[in-house]
Amino acid sequence: MRAAADYTFHHAAPEAGDFYQEVIDGLSQPARFIPPKYFYDHAGSRLFESICEQPEYYPTRTETALLKQYASEIAGLAGEDCYIIEPGSGSCEKVRLLLDALHPAAYVPLDISCDHLKMAAACVADDFPWLDVHAVCTDITAELSLPFIPEKTRSMMFYPGSSIGNFDPPHAMDFLSCLAKVTGQDGHLLIGVDLKKDKEVLDAAYNDASGVTAAFNLNVLQRINRELAGDFDTEAFVHHAFYNGVRGRIEMHLISERKQTVRVDGHSFEFNAGDSIHTENSYKYTIDEFQGLARQAGFTPCRVWTDSDDLFSLHYLRVV
Ligand code: TRP
Repeated sequence: MRAAADYTFHHAAPEAGDFYQEVIDGLSQPARFIPPKYFYDHAGSRLFESICEQPEYYPTRTETALLKQYASEIAGLAGEDCYIIEPGSGSCEKVRLLLDALHPAAYVPLDISCDHLKMAAACVADDFPWLDVHAVCTDITAELSLPFIPEKTRSMMFYPGSSIGNFDPPHAMDFLSCLAKVTGQDGHLLIGVDLKKDKEVLDAAYNDASGVTAAFNLNVLQRINRELAGDFDTEAFVHHAFYNGVRGRIEMHLISERKQTVRVDGHSFEFNAGDSIHTENSYKYTIDEFQGLARQAGFTPCRVWTDSDDLFSLHYLRVV
């Protein structure tokens, strides 16, 4: 057995992004927004893990069940000794369901939240002593480069959690094209995609009764206060999430409850009661819609699995 921290750590360009500039720019637009990647500070990463355990939030447990059920079939498609690359790996929990079946040559988690990444990578390295773990701290929404991956290695991108839904469709297409470029010819992609379904089920998933999703959304304002000398009154904003059927997406907003002025490091932002800061979208796809998008990005659909209630889909694709 090797020590807990026995994994390789890389800092890749681009670095974690410019929180200050992106917040000031986003709040200065007529339709205010804060990029969702900034949700994931330490508290945000914790809250996100708790969202995944809420009874209303069906995606995590449904996808987990699919991964468990089909791990050996996935292993058959991936072949032996591949590199598993996971953009936005978070707590690295889901990949564990595949490691014994796939027995990859290496696991490469990529995440913007460096401390969280180091901890999660160390735990995986500890629990799977035979596995080579290369943790890469990077902003996955910018161009990726992984020079340490040997040429002619088969890579399987693993992108669970329907995180692809957090890009709008043109950017989702760009992102998938980047993944195809990184894996190269004969690259594979295993990706979890939340399916379109009744509005009630979707609305409930993003409005859990315990208020964890609300706390997660509001946490970004606390982060701005702490890291960017902001003075958001977090009691004066409320979480608002709903399914927009026309656009096929959950929208998350923070709504100002009253007229107020917020300062962030010398910049002032005026809010009226009811004004919104748009913090995230989560697009939902039918199987056909997603396969169409993936095709445009250079992938060929190979296999798709769904649960018996058609809540969630797990796609296996190959670069053409
Ligand atoms: N990508 C997942 C989804 O859209 C998880 C997620 C990202 C999420 N941000 C979230 C879940 C905010 C709840 C709230 O469902």
